[in-house]
Amino acid sequence: MELGIQGRTALVLAASKGLGRASAIALAREGANVVIGARTAKRLEQTAREIGAETGGDVRYLPVDVTDPAQCAAIYDFACKEFGKVDILVNNAGGPPFGPVEQFSDDDWHTALELNLMSTVRFCRLALPSMKAVGWGRIVNILSLSVKSVLPGSVLSTAGRLGIVGMAKLLSDEVASFGVTVNNVASGMILTDRVRQTSLRQRLEQGMDENSALEDIAKAIPARRIGRPDELAALVAFLASDSAGYITGTTIPVDGGIVRSIL
Ligand SMILES: NC(=O)c1ccc[n+]([C@@H]2O[C@H](COP(=O)([O-])OP(=O)(O)OC[C@H]3O[C@@H](n4cnc5c(N)ncnc54)[C@H](OP(=O)(O)O)[C@@H]3O)[C@@H](O)[C@H]2O)c1
Repeated sequence: MELGIQGRTALVLAASKGLGRASAIALAREGANVVIGARTAKRLEQTAREIGAETGGDVRYLPVDVTDPAQCAAIYDFACKEFGKVDILVNNAGGPPFGPVEQFSDDDWHTALELNLMSTVRFCRLALPSMKAVGWGRIVNILSLSVKSVLPGSVLSTAGRLGIVGMAKLLSDEVASFGVTVNNVASGMILTDRVRQTSLRQRLEQGMDENSALEDIAKAIPARRIGRPDELAALVAFLASDSAGYITGTTIPVDGGIVRSIL
């Protein structure tokens, strides 16, 4: 399917690996110029090289910690300098720690809200003036299934991400008439390093081998398997496309059916 974003510029955050990396690949494959950011320079540089080689796309990078407002502004300015403007913004970050609600201090809350909620607010604020001025823009926020269905222990993540859902809905309403859409993708269980270091590791520590551990995780998923990053990235690229211009203010799960709510 021709997505109509050839020559558009995408800024993809937290994109040295996992869901961000896969989203950057999907966008580059569609002919978008891509700028990726994450904290670790060496891996970021390698990822940019790999995506360029795999897609033939023009991929640039700048290290960024999305919790630092000055660094957010720096990568946004860098993208504009490299490619003229940012048409597509993919907000993504790491995930906060898991634990029971009463365990977390004010500092834990502040850190988590900076990581997910405030980074998204800041990047939207940076990108909107130019998107509105040119009359075209796509904002896609990568969230979690926890905004749709209880994910035990995920309070720091869920509270911030529900803030993003609320902000994105209000924002979509404010900017729809400028040709700018704002949507969320709610990730189910997708095999990335984050899952390898959490759900998978717990099972390996219990003595399961990797295949049994993956099968055990998959039991709770109607599709009976863990998703692949490219399956989520395909939706990110579609929501970023010209074809998706009439879809805004939504939150769409990519989860193999694990979210059990009907609406
Ligand atoms: N995979 C899933 O099944 C799943 C499910 C639900 C929600 N999610 C959410 O989706 C997001 C992406 O997860 P993932 O699975 O792709 O994780 P991942 O494979 O661990 O990748 C995380 C990426 O984020 C970057 N990053 C982390 N903290 C950052 C920061 N402060 N500033 C800039 N970049 C940062 C990392 O690079 P550096 O460390 O070098 O910065 C890396 O590129 C997370 O918020 C996660 O909670 C994932």
